[in-house]
Amino acid sequence: MGNCLGSSARVDATLSSHTLPASETLRIPSKTSNSSAPSTLTLPSYSGKSSSFDSIPTPRSEFEILSSPHVKSFPFSELRNATRNFRPDSLLGEGGFGYVFKGWIDEQTLTPSKPGSGMVIAVKKLKPEGFQGHKEWLTEVNYLGQLHHPNLVKLIGYCSEGDNRLLVYEFMPKGSLENHLFRRGAQPLPWATRMRVAIGAARGLAFLHDAEEQVIYRDFKASNILLDSEFNAKLSDFGLAKAGPTGDRTHVSTQVMGTHGYAAPEYIATGRLSAKSDVYSFGVVMLELLSGRRAVDKGKVGVEQNLVDWAKPYLGDKRKLFRIMDTKLEGQYPQKGAFTAANLAMQCLNPDPKVRPRMTDVLAALEDLPSPKSLKHSPSEYQASPDPARHSLKQNRSPLSMTPCASPLPTQLKSPRVR
Ligand SMILES: Nc1ncnc2c1ncn2[C@@H]1O[C@H](COP(=O)(O)OP(=O)(O)O)[C@@H](O)[C@H]1O
Ligand SMILES: [Mg+2]
Repeated sequence: MGNCLGSSARVDATLSSHTLPASETLRIPSKTSNSSAPSTLTLPSYSGKSSSFDSIPTPRSEFEILSSPHVKSFPFSELRNATRNFRPDSLLGEGGFGYVFKGWIDEQTLTPSKPGSGMVIAVKKLKPEGFQGHKEWLTEVNYLGQLHHPNLVKLIGYCSEGDNRLLVYEFMPKGSLENHLFRRGAQPLPWATRMRVAIGAARGLAFLHDAEEQVIYRDFKASNILLDSEFNAKLSDFGLAKAGPTGDRTHVSTQVMGTHGYAAPEYIATGRLSAKSDVYSFGVVMLELLSGRRAVDKGKVGVEQNLVDWAKPYLGDKRKLFRIMDTKLEGQYPQKGAFTAANLAMQCLNPDPKVRPRMTDVLAALEDLPSPKSLKHSPSEYQASPDPARHSLKQNRSPLSMTPCASPLPTQLKSPRVR
């Protein structure tokens, strides 16, 4: 939504003409930047072997990306008709790079249909951004055109006509996690639903990280986690996604881009990007789920402005954890489960990327928490002290240490430089 920009400005090392308010735009020069020239945009290829993720090691041209058999190329007029001329009352949200509208198309022919009939779609219309906007649009078509997984949003098609750049997605009826956690008046999410969302999002990230050709998502945040009617989480917004390191390399060196409050400190400081940068961002979202607070909240004072800085001292202490828990939960969460989740978040937020767990380990630990279903059907699970017999964290199941292990972030990494 438009108002989310105040708290989650994109960290962008390349753009000065960003649509964010000047005070929110973070531009962090990357010391190790080796970005390619704008005119020679090529992206890694992912087509071939498996039905869900294919890999060809050669870069793909724009023509190849846009020729993907999995996505339709829409004429602009069709998307205008499908959204009733981008009517303001069909606006679903606004992000850093554009507006998202609700529309309707025929399921078979994918042509515009009458509102209320056929299939519901979400159409993202990019604001004219110049090259960066186009690059991110193309990156999204490249990845989502070929990556298929229950926890990634489905890209139905795109439009490239003149200066217009649009993306057509499956409609996610429950909107973004951000809306549910932070929008004024939103129905509070129960604990079980929060963990369900965390598991779905972790599955999405684990899928990307474990793909034959690893993908680093780079913009993991509450507004990019979309929810279907059953609160299944799907990752959207692949505009910043990047191919992971190959061979023995531990990271790729790249321009620093992402979102303030979510981006990993070592990535901001050095431009060294790895899957562990996503793991850090996952830790931030875990804290948002636990606390109901935004990663960055300019409305707060001092250390409370930055969720990680504020929450860290409480995460490893069973007796203090309640102090950071979302009051909207009204104490309706299992204490042990919350402590395990907090510990997991703390490990994800370790300043040393090497020490952070991998997403598959995070996922395994989350799956070992009492299942959302049993929580839903067993009100006793909401008591402050859960029945120990129902506590399903099996010893030795997960390679993760459940002991508090995070140390404070070095001062120089605490917050990105803001111009
Ligand atoms: N496929 C979709 N279905 C429903 N709502 C969506 C969809 N895609 C985006 N939205 C809504 O539009 C908002 C803006 O999306 P986006 O442009 O990705 O920006 P941001 O990630 O900065 O919020 C999202 O936060 C979400 O509320
Ligand atoms: Mg988004």
